[in-house]
Amino acid sequence: MYRIGKEEIDAVARVIESKELFKVNGGPYHETENFEKEIREKLDTKYSVLMTSGVAAMTAALIGMGIGPGDQVIVPGYTYIASAMAVVAAGAIPVLCEVDDTLTIDPDDIRKKITKHTKAIIPVHIQGYPCNMDAVTEIAKEYGLLVLEDACQADGGSYKGRRLGTIGDAGAFSFNFFKVITAGEGGALVTDDEDIFRRAMIYHDASAIAYFGNQLDDIEKDSFCGTEFRTDEIKAAILRVQLTKMDGILKDLRSVKTAVAKAVEGKLRVIRSNDADGDCATTITFSFDTADEAVSFAEKSGGVRPIDTGKHVYSRWTPIIRKRGAFNPLMDPFRMEANKDIVPEYTEDMCPKTLEILSKCVHINLNPDWTAEQIGALADKLIGAVK
Ligand SMILES: Cc1ncc(COP(=O)(O)O)c(C=O)c1O
Repeated sequence: MYRIGKEEIDAVARVIESKELFKVNGGPYHETENFEKEIREKLDTKYSVLMTSGVAAMTAALIGMGIGPGDQVIVPGYTYIASAMAVVAAGAIPVLCEVDDTLTIDPDDIRKKITKHTKAIIPVHIQGYPCNMDAVTEIAKEYGLLVLEDACQADGGSYKGRRLGTIGDAGAFSFNFFKVITAGEGGALVTDDEDIFRRAMIYHDASAIAYFGNQLDDIEKDSFCGTEFRTDEIKAAILRVQLTKMDGILKDLRSVKTAVAKAVEGKLRVIRSNDADGDCATTITFSFDTADEAVSFAEKSGGVRPIDTGKHVYSRWTPIIRKRGAFNPLMDPFRMEANKDIVPEYTEDMCPKTLEILSKCVHINLNPDWTAEQIGALADKLIGAVK
């Protein structure tokens, strides 16, 4: 959470005073409808749906893509567990893939993980670092796979001039407390594909879409049971303000990152990026020759090694590693008949390259509101932390 205050308070007050908090009624301000329109315009995409969370957006996107039992989906071994859980929630099986020195999905390993059951790839723009989308889209095209971009940590980021989340078949964003923009919780799905949009709309709120009039034409024709990831006008009102701040936050984060990188040049090694200009710059990450050097630097600098970030590392995804896909065994994708030949053996060391890379890096979180003095003090601390 970076910048939130009076404008968001006013937006919330306006909705409460209108006494119209339900998105379908929309009240005088149509906050949800307008947020969805404004994010489409900002990102240049055809369809968008605001939802309760990033994982809601990802699950709805996968359902919208037609993914389910019998399908494998390739997920990098360095991402929040939610990326893999969304696959399981859709009834499909996550197949783990290495990351490379950019900390994002390794295109060479994607190729090795493709089987005749692979249906999709989830490139994750982790810490706002853009994946190599040229390589991912080329592989997807070659093998006829779908691409769902997990941009949950990358609101507003870009790759070669295109916004993250809009390059694949669909993209998902999170607006939880830790993201570039926030409403405490929240998420959005974007896509240019009308079928993905319609099915995701139905899944995210099947009962209301069918019940409340004209949100989709011909709903009865396509309708199926879904869940309830609907949001309210208060969340949308906050996010409309946050969206107007997003590019300013990113601009300032990027200039902080450039200043820090310049100040430590020659003393510390910044990791390679697939697009340094499009990176959200929420973090600056340094790589070291050994894990011991990274441990020592993290201790002295106040940074954190990615390997020590808990459920962001596949080896700590306990319910996945233990194949506990649901409480009721009959609803557990890991035990479904359709998946019986496609569940891999998950072991804690199945992505050794990922573990090695994550153990030799250190993240330092950045803040767009830092002054030149604060940046200077951080740079001194970082230099002092190098052995
Ligand atoms: C990479 C990634 N994917 C998905 C999610 C899920 O987002 P949410 O917490 O909004 O469900 C997160 C959340 O932190 C995330 O970091």
